[in-house]
Amino acid sequence: MALRIGDTAPNFTIATTAGEINFHDWAKGKWVFFFSHPADYTPVCTTEMGRTAQLAPEFEARNCAPLGLSTDTVEEHLGWTKDVNATQNTSLKFPIVADVDRKIAELYDMIHPSESSTATVRSIFIIDPEHKIRLTMTYPMAVGRNFDEILRVIDALQIGDKHGIATPVEWQAGDKVIIPPTVSNADASQKFPQGFDEILPYLRYVDVSK
Ligand code: BEZ
Repeated sequence: MALRIGDTAPNFTIATTAGEINFHDWAKGKWVFFFSHPADYTPVCTTEMGRTAQLAPEFEARNCAPLGLSTDTVEEHLGWTKDVNATQNTSLKFPIVADVDRKIAELYDMIHPSESSTATVRSIFIIDPEHKIRLTMTYPMAVGRNFDEILRVIDALQIGDKHGIATPVEWQAGDKVIIPPTVSNADASQKFPQGFDEILPYLRYVDVSK
């Protein structure tokens, strides 16, 4: 069965470009952006790996570690990384899993046979420091991902955890957030002494940056 939001991200031990890792040990105390790509030495994947490497300071600021995966070997990943660095003007530092026997791909349902029976699609798992899956997204092989959205959703999850709020459509860091309907007005007044805007009894906005 496919992994779902709230499930514990299954543990595994596997070879990567940074040596063998035990996933839960490696991920301890961190958020993780775990993502698969179809294959090394392919154009869309080259741009995605480059973007992930370029955004290293943004992931670091969010205490979030990227972890890539494909069904290629460590040697292929390392050789391809040179092309990524040269063409995307970056220095890729995060580990890439070499899932040559597809064990992790199957565990995480990253192979969608109508796309390919051997290569992974563009799966994303955002995993929190307790190893809980907090978001899943799946893109087809021929569509590169939007990394602004990946960073935005990590921000939304983290601000939600910090303040017990939800984020509205198109929310960006710094925008007002939403008080969930499970919080009464009396409790909201205590929790948010800066005040909140009640548009409807179930639609209330608060500025948590105040
Ligand atoms: C690519 O990364 O360019 C790619 C990989 C597999 C299928 C389509 C595109």
